[in-house]
Amino acid sequence: MGCISYAIPRFLRPTTTLSPPLKLSFPLRHRTVSAAVYPASPLSEKEEIRSPELVAREYADLNLSDKFSQEVGHVRIRQHVNPLRSSLMVPAEMPDWNAVYKDATLPLMVDIGSGSGRFLIWLAKRNPDSRNYLGLEIRPKLVKRAEYWVNELALKNIHFIYANATVSFKQLVSTYSGPLILVSILCPDPHFKKKHHKRRVVQKHLVDSIIDGLASGGQIFIQSDVLEVALDMRNYFDTESDKLVHIDNIDPNMLCDNEGWLLKNPMGIRTEREIHAEFEGARIYRRMYQKMR
Ligand SMILES: C[S@@+](CC[C@H](N)C(=O)[O-])C[C@H]1O[C@@H](n2cnc3c(N)ncnc32)[C@H](O)[C@@H]1O
Repeated sequence: MGCISYAIPRFLRPTTTLSPPLKLSFPLRHRTVSAAVYPASPLSEKEEIRSPELVAREYADLNLSDKFSQEVGHVRIRQHVNPLRSSLMVPAEMPDWNAVYKDATLPLMVDIGSGSGRFLIWLAKRNPDSRNYLGLEIRPKLVKRAEYWVNELALKNIHFIYANATVSFKQLVSTYSGPLILVSILCPDPHFKKKHHKRRVVQKHLVDSIIDGLASGGQIFIQSDVLEVALDMRNYFDTESDKLVHIDNIDPNMLCDNEGWLLKNPMGIRTEREIHAEFEGARIYRRMYQKMR
């Protein structure tokens, strides 16, 4: 499915999970799941499935064809790209938003590190006239395939750009004419080694750019299946408490556990990494912030 996988070092694996979604006494890539766990997938009880099949089921209503793979070849993903490589520090070309979207004044959601793009395409298909969607992804082949699907579905409210978000986010959103209302950073590459933490996408510079670019009342949604990465991101955004408020303070429906992690995914669909991680029994750590008015 072109999903990016990474093995979580043993020392970082959670020892407990919040309501583990699966029984874990199975071979890693071939498990039995209960139908109640994944309501979007009409599985019969104890059906044998694999993680990529779960992704296909969760996104089944998109009806994405496999033509891209047939024409261009399978999208193979190597482990983490180093976004600080000089060849990746080049700013992305600024698009002509009026050519990209049917209505370039609609409120915009940006997904940083959009991966395969299925998550954003799913959202765009559901909100064709009320929002525009922009995926920023550093792996060109994923962008090419996502754009292929966008054309196939004839969606006029979504666009993917081959871009290093660290370098290009600020300029991209500042040239857009509508309000930026939501930025998501979902399961970013963890770059586990300490000396590689500087490669993580969430850094002070990007946090400042997101907050500056957001319309007042705009939101930031972050999540990771790696606690250490979730905490790292959370620290950056919690520090901005004079500009951001966590959503559970203003929306009684957005409940958190005792440690301040959101209990539910508020987007209505899981990302691919999220599906794979939950399949492996991991917990997802989520936060959602709102820019003060
Ligand atoms: C682990 S994947 C998660 C993909 C998707 N968000 C999900 O949850 O399934 C992280 C993605 O971020 C992309 N990425 C990493 N650093 C990036 C950067 N600086 N700018 C844009 N994309 C980046 C990677 O290429 C990869 O596709």
